[in-house]
Amino acid sequence: VPENRDRIVVVGAGHAAGQLVASLRGEGFAGDITLIGEEPVHPYQRPPLSKQYLAGELSGDRLLFRPADFYRKNAVQIRLGCRAIGIDRDARTVTLEGGERIGYSGLALATGARVRPLPVEGHDLAGVFYLRTIDDVNRIRARLETARAVVIIGGGFIGLEVAAVMAKLGKRVTVLEMQDRLMPRVVSPTVSEFYREAHARHGVRVVTGAQVSALAGTNGEVRAVACAGGEECAADLVVIGIGVIPNTVLAQSAGLACDNGIVVDEFASTSDPRVVAAGDCTNHPSAWAGRRLRLESVQNALDQSKIAAATLCDKRRPYREVPWFWSDQYDLKLQMVGLSQGFDREIVRGAIGEGRFSVFYFRGERLLAVDSISRPADHMVSRRLLGAGVAVTPEQAGDPDFELKSLL
Ligand code: NAI
Repeated sequence: VPENRDRIVVVGAGHAAGQLVASLRGEGFAGDITLIGEEPVHPYQRPPLSKQYLAGELSGDRLLFRPADFYRKNAVQIRLGCRAIGIDRDARTVTLEGGERIGYSGLALATGARVRPLPVEGHDLAGVFYLRTIDDVNRIRARLETARAVVIIGGGFIGLEVAAVMAKLGKRVTVLEMQDRLMPRVVSPTVSEFYREAHARHGVRVVTGAQVSALAGTNGEVRAVACAGGEECAADLVVIGIGVIPNTVLAQSAGLACDNGIVVDEFASTSDPRVVAAGDCTNHPSAWAGRRLRLESVQNALDQSKIAAATLCDKRRPYREVPWFWSDQYDLKLQMVGLSQGFDREIVRGAIGEGRFSVFYFRGERLLAVDSISRPADHMVSRRLLGAGVAVTPEQAGDPDFELKSLL
């Protein structure tokens, strides 16, 4: 039986896993730590993948979450290019592909999410890509030199950030979004419309209500994207960004409760007290939102991992953070805090026409969320206001001369 006293095994090697091992040492955990990652690289930051890294403005080593020698200095055993395929919670072991078993006293699942596949004919043609890993972007970049016409399927964060980079690189870009507006999962129609116009100004053709029916090819290479209704878009490079699915298979097969993510409590504990989970793979109760959330964000990966590490060190601290997100497209900085779903009133602060404004979302008297476009000060103060639960009136929000800071 493998040694399982005083060893924490972390499954996953994304933002959440990187933070987890750093926080375990920060909390004073002195036992062994083993990190198991499927990709052949140390934990790295995904946000630049669809931005500066795709644009060729950032080298691969600048993506690393911590320099590689951080793990050596902190006595973290790193197993890269290695898949965990099973968990035996009675024996307290994790089984790796190949059969090796690693014992644990505590286990952290930071398995993240995988891309949602587009199951249409031609999805496996050369020139068709998803974008989730460094390897994905390296392969997209390798094709960029010869690609002229880029079609992006999905008008969410990935799709629009990629569209912005491709447009800057001089490609002919079309975005095909299934819903009737851009980024429908996160922002309001006002912000969607602003971004549709911004992309149009940069020459990007945006088609909403698009139903992709097939990808057509010649000699195994993608040539066009066909939509229901008969429209065809010429394409020699296709990027699919139609959302992600939380990776729960490992947790599920170990009998841990899963429901749209691995179910955890406010301490990041799963249904097994020896097992925590953090990041995109979890479904957690948000004290702030008053309901369960499954978030796909760096903020959640970092904040929840700190809580999970504390829990493994018997220092229980509840997770209370306000969700926040960002997206960079062209020179526009979109920063979002809170969750706007269910708003019944929106107040604009600043000038939409000048491309610098914030939208404050209210339900009744309550401020739910704020989206800021190139107004970082609004974003920062909104994070503090929402975090502290300070009341803001629509009049205050809409008056650019009113100092929101004065409410803190
Ligand atoms: P997403 O959920 O943000 O957007 C997916 C979009 O694809 C939605 O607008 C959806 O309506 C559309 N869609 C779904 N099925 C479709 C179909 N068959 N045809 C056309 N459109 C379809 O997911 P996305 O952009 O793939 O991003 C993946 C993950 O990466 C997300 O978790 C996202 O939060 C994260 N991410 C975050 C960024 C940020 O915060 N700035 C940047 C890039 C990615």
